[in-house]
Amino acid sequence: MPIQYHIQSQEFHLYNDQVSYLIRVLENGQLGHLYYGARIPDEADHGYLVENTYRPMTTYVSPDDYSFSLSNVQQEYPPYGTSDYRHPAYEVKQANGSTVTNFTFEGYQIINGKPQLTGLPATYASSSHPATTLEIALVDQLTQVKMILSYSIFSDSPIIARNVRFENHGKETVTLTTAQSLSVDLPDADYEWVQFSGAWGRERHPHVTPLRPGLQAVDSLRGASSHMQNPFLILKRPQTTEMSGEAYAVSLVYSGNFLAQAEVNEYDVTRLQIGINPFHFAWQLTPGTNFQTPEALIAYTEKGLNDLSQSFHRLYNDCLVRGAWQHQVRPVLINNWEATYFDFTEEKLIAIAKQAKKLGIELFVLDDGWFGERMTETDGLGDWWPNPKRLPNGIAGLANQIHQLGLKFGLWFEPEMANRNSKLVRQHPDWLIQTPNRPQSQGRRQYVLDLAQPEVIDYLFDLIAKVLHDGQIDYVKWDMNRNMSEVYSLAYPANQQGEIFHRYILGVYQLYERLRQAFPKILFESCASGGGRFDAGMLYYAPQAWTSDDSDAIERLAIQGGTSYGYPLSSMGAHVSVTPNEQVGRLTPLNTRGNVAYFGDLGYELDITQMTPAELAQIKAQIEEYKRYRSVFQYGNFYRLTGLGQAKLINWLVVSQDQRIAILGNFKVLNDVNAPYRRLRIPGLKADFRYHVTEVKPAGKVNRGSFTGQELARLGLVISDASAGQTNETTDFYSRCFILEAE
Ligand code: GLA
Repeated sequence: MPIQYHIQSQEFHLYNDQVSYLIRVLENGQLGHLYYGARIPDEADHGYLVENTYRPMTTYVSPDDYSFSLSNVQQEYPPYGTSDYRHPAYEVKQANGSTVTNFTFEGYQIINGKPQLTGLPATYASSSHPATTLEIALVDQLTQVKMILSYSIFSDSPIIARNVRFENHGKETVTLTTAQSLSVDLPDADYEWVQFSGAWGRERHPHVTPLRPGLQAVDSLRGASSHMQNPFLILKRPQTTEMSGEAYAVSLVYSGNFLAQAEVNEYDVTRLQIGINPFHFAWQLTPGTNFQTPEALIAYTEKGLNDLSQSFHRLYNDCLVRGAWQHQVRPVLINNWEATYFDFTEEKLIAIAKQAKKLGIELFVLDDGWFGERMTETDGLGDWWPNPKRLPNGIAGLANQIHQLGLKFGLWFEPEMANRNSKLVRQHPDWLIQTPNRPQSQGRRQYVLDLAQPEVIDYLFDLIAKVLHDGQIDYVKWDMNRNMSEVYSLAYPANQQGEIFHRYILGVYQLYERLRQAFPKILFESCASGGGRFDAGMLYYAPQAWTSDDSDAIERLAIQGGTSYGYPLSSMGAHVSVTPNEQVGRLTPLNTRGNVAYFGDLGYELDITQMTPAELAQIKAQIEEYKRYRSVFQYGNFYRLTGLGQAKLINWLVVSQDQRIAILGNFKVLNDVNAPYRRLRIPGLKADFRYHVTEVKPAGKVNRGSFTGQELARLGLVISDASAGQTNETTDFYSRCFILEAE
């Protein structure tokens, strides 16, 4: 049993082979946090860790006692308002206006497995990845509101999954204005804070800063997790590297407004929290109802950042992604967007598809512009039926032709949005998110549909399901191209407007779930103007996501590299596009574009009917090679061999689960003349296997010798290119790909 309750000390110990997590009921009945880190033996009492002593400028809980103060203790789910001045994990506003509460221990239960969260994405247990769950109930006697803190530990992961459920058993309505998914107090502050930030076209670049006294936070108020910040963050020891050292990370399994913050207090205690953004959040908890927070995950490693990332990759691949595409290799696709934008005809699409088939591509995706009156971005969004002016044979006719070519057929939708010029908005103007008597802002000439209204979800489901059914669609790209503003729902009363952001996301999840269940074989790829909603919540519904609209190979080193800290390679859509690149104007070799896109779900997004025979031959070879090692690229153990912030020479490695195959991508961002000797140590191999090393060059494969795993790990693989800059072979943006195969 990996969860022990020590009745005398009232301590809970959650553990597996890798980690321990210790919780203790404090003397005032609230919950204290004692430890989360590497596995320790199960001992009955760690009371010595509760260091509650007199401190100046402190308020104390009991009248005659100068020691017990919530300011002094590490807590599990702290309140504000009684003796602790840090930011709380929750706030409950009562009918009399007070927000003071006193939630005390009521009981607990240990559940075999891991209960699902109604309407929300969450990790799940299975027979190959069993989990045990501890639910601790706390009650506020005055209001009769309960909180159920839930902790699940998997048998084979250092990651603990947490969530909180509020239940109103009282007679009065209370308002929840803060309800974090996770709060944990770490006993010191010797950390660096690593956040993943950016903008459209340059998502999830890592930023590292030392933790300092006070608050540091990232958040989103856009109604989506956003391009700008990601609901994933790492606290690492300053000396921690990719290959060694301690770190924690938290991830929110949620796609809407979030807040992730660390607060370092005057005693160097670090309070780490993640959950729904309290700003603009107010949930009416009427008597007899519950509120369920999203799930948050917390991870620990003592073996460096690659190990931390691999824990998330494994958990997401094994216990978050669901359905027919879980653990399946993903098809190599061609998307027509950057090849044609809105300017396409059925003949043009068929020409691209025919060429794609010859190159070994498996899935043809028709992007924006096939529906309603859509000729540009100003019209037609929301009208999900084929435009006969563009597609005389409809989607079904086109899909049929594509299927006849031996390709799968995929289609773009943007279900959550509408243009004003659409039948949908003309018929249902009240289905848009809008604030009465105020102007409505537009983004990309489109408006957000009110998915907090069940009839909007029904309407979208019926229309989309018809197209998916008629065309026998194999893949859906679900886009979302603007953030929310003037957030208000005409369908809800004044006192529930603080619920709309969250209800909207619940609506998105519901529509996704209904479509998934109706079409279980469809592969969903989520998208939000590129990677504007790349989060663990989405992965529960769509096992892959369009990583960024920026497909420039060099920018993608930063974007995919940054994304890999928190998300698996199988989740990252990665396409080869044209040069000069449409986003940054950069010229990069086709070889490098391929090598970068290899580390993800490979696709092509350029006009392959306009390429030279030599380029086509190179693409064909690229795809052949990718397919040979596809399961390694998508599901292997991924290592960043170049650390945070080193951008000139980047090395990525994937190693197959059985350690028989490893593939090294060596990316030289800027060429260097008369370069240093370079030897790269290769982790993750079996010491006594002998690996044959081949370099895959556009002109063919070159034998680079054979070495034992131990030699490669200790002496390293020689990757020097002394002639760099003196031959035509190496250039800026030059890259190499090495395959290591056990003999
Ligand atoms: C967004 C997506 C692109 C493409 C366009 C279509 O920008 O990220 O990949 O689908 O919309 O309008």
